[in-house]
Amino acid sequence: MAKKVRIKKRNVGIAGGILVVIIVLIIGLVKWKEKLDYQATSEYKLLSIGYSEEDTTFLIENLDKQHLNNIIENRELNEDIIKFYKQEYFLEKNLDEYLNYVKENPGTSYTDVVAIINVGANKDWYDGSKSTDTTKGSALLVNKFHSLDSDYQPNLVPIKNTYAYANAKEMDEDAYYAFISMFNAAQEDGFKLVMNYSYRNYQEQEEVYNNFKSQYGTEYADSYAARPGHSEHQTGLAFDLIIDSDYDKTNFDTSPKFAWLQENAYKYGYILRYPKDKEHLTGYSYEPWHYRYVGVEIATYIHQHNITYDEYYAYFLEG
Ligand code: DAL
Ligand code: ZN
Repeated sequence: MAKKVRIKKRNVGIAGGILVVIIVLIIGLVKWKEKLDYQATSEYKLLSIGYSEEDTTFLIENLDKQHLNNIIENRELNEDIIKFYKQEYFLEKNLDEYLNYVKENPGTSYTDVVAIINVGANKDWYDGSKSTDTTKGSALLVNKFHSLDSDYQPNLVPIKNTYAYANAKEMDEDAYYAFISMFNAAQEDGFKLVMNYSYRNYQEQEEVYNNFKSQYGTEYADSYAARPGHSEHQTGLAFDLIIDSDYDKTNFDTSPKFAWLQENAYKYGYILRYPKDKEHLTGYSYEPWHYRYVGVEIATYIHQHNITYDEYYAYFLEG
């Protein structure tokens, strides 16, 4: 009897031991599986490439699957990617171009790289130029990469002599009424804003450009005059201000009239279209006399954020 009990006890002991081994094995297997699963995650892979925890979280939250996979497959720590993602006007579709550009042009700021690629200014001017989307109305973009057909017809109204010299005869209706409001406000503050040039049709622009070219050569002509089909003057939405007799073209921006425009033009929907230090984005030299109507909302944004219209359009409006 006592022997039987002993055998029973021993069997229970063996069964218990087997159970413990099985449990330990199962736990081990579960842990091993968990480890394998974790090693397959983007988090593990990014951390093991060398990205910090903060950057890893940022990449997972912000990148699409394809870009995340590209980074992981590269297995190279590239902090430029994060820097670009954190730029205000970052466009995911341009990421590869940003990365190439900064590699080929080290020292260019990330903000500038994003702006250059977004507006296409890494290409030669006019290269791959396309017809602009004229359904955008007063927000349409005309520049060295976006053109108007030779027969494009804006909604023009005649300009009264009070507001312009003989060269400025017609302009877009909305732009005209906005100009009148701005003219009145400036007049109350003691400034007279008079337009020198406004709408020019395709043929007139061709003449302007060719005159510049024959007088000063192609490079200079391209820095101040648009080629036909590429001028904002053909939209009827832009004008050039007359330069006061005591302020010539080179120092117009030191005039009180210019300072007034800097502070107030946006309230009437106008922007300075070719600002200083943005030649590499607009393709034109600084033109303190050239203003463009884009409507109050867009003009206010541009005024507050100090970007060119080319950048605004690329980020907010280009399809
Ligand atoms: N001066 C500007 C760029 C034009 O010709 O349209
Ligand atoms: Zn102009």
